[in-house]
Amino acid sequence: MRAMSYGSFGGAEALSLVDVPTPTPGPGQLLVKVSATSVNPIDWKMASGKLRLFLPVEFPAVPGFDVCGRVAALGPGVGGLTLGQRVHARIAASPGGASAEFALVEAVQAVAIHHEMSDADAAALPLAGMTALQGLRAGGLPPSGATARVLIVGASGGVGHLALQIARAAGAQVTGVCSGRNEATVRGLGADDVIDYTNPEAWAGKGPWDIVYDCVGGDAGPWYRHLAPRGHYLTCVPAPATFLALASAPFRRVKVTAVMLKSNGPDLRTLDALHEAGRLRVLVDSTYPLSELPKAWDRSKSGRAVGKIVVTVG
Ligand SMILES: NC(=O)c1ccc[n+]([C@@H]2O[C@H](COP(=O)([O-])OP(=O)(O)OC[C@H]3O[C@@H](n4cnc5c(N)ncnc54)[C@H](OP(=O)(O)O)[C@@H]3O)[C@@H](O)[C@H]2O)c1
Repeated sequence: MRAMSYGSFGGAEALSLVDVPTPTPGPGQLLVKVSATSVNPIDWKMASGKLRLFLPVEFPAVPGFDVCGRVAALGPGVGGLTLGQRVHARIAASPGGASAEFALVEAVQAVAIHHEMSDADAAALPLAGMTALQGLRAGGLPPSGATARVLIVGASGGVGHLALQIARAAGAQVTGVCSGRNEATVRGLGADDVIDYTNPEAWAGKGPWDIVYDCVGGDAGPWYRHLAPRGHYLTCVPAPATFLALASAPFRRVKVTAVMLKSNGPDLRTLDALHEAGRLRVLVDSTYPLSELPKAWDRSKSGRAVGKIVVTVG
């Protein structure tokens, strides 16, 4: 089968289209004929080698955690799914393997796709959507009492645009932080208010928020002054500053959580249900064929994507 792979650490230039043996599903696994995958920053961060101490990579490596396709073979012991069925998943194995004509998926991670969901949406949703959902859940959404006030930092990005809509669907009052050029898009996703991060004046008279979900990363300090008493700062981009924030959180009477995605089928089903109900829209920034994965990575590395970058296969 054809696959995009890299044989050493580096950037997008390390990727090449190669022929590799089609994998065979083991117990509990599916072989999926891939129709689409999507790019997540973790793909090129792992390929750079900077995360190798925490997330080791074996070469040759086929990246791509998000997968959408049809079941091509069932491993021993797999039930509940049939050959030819459309499924999607966030592949748990590292570094994914979805940038190929076929990919192995743990059957417990795979979810049958409702017929109205496009391949692009199905490939875009798993990793970013579960990160959004799990982060907000860690922050206490849906709320048990009064309406939560939620600030989404990076509301135009892959994780942020989904977090914004999930928070809205949970009944929160949501403010999105984005640049001025993305304000209309973020409002169109349902933000009650928008703050242009390029304009320091834009914060005047805003806040406080019960939950700040930071999908951009950096120093947590500036967010404290926008948190309500006993507020919760969440970040899916933990940095050394996050650990300082964690240590000082009890003294500041706030909570701090570093969100680390855990793939699972039930959370993906929750996202699919929101999508099917028309409450979760996937923004597709751009689409590339598999052979142009290096360009898709360059687009992701630019940090300017609005929504998700999709890669079509086959
Ligand atoms: N911990 C986990 O399990 C986990 C899971 C998923 C992702 N992540 C991490 O989460 C981060 C976000 O991922 P992603 O896929 O959402 O990235 P992304 O789609 O590439 O994010 C790009 C978006 O961020 C916006 N942005 C950039 N700087 C900003 C700022 N200072 N304030 C507000 N918005 C800003 C950009 O808008 P403008 O062009 O307008 O600036 C753009 O729309 C990455 O670092 C990723 O590695 C972690």
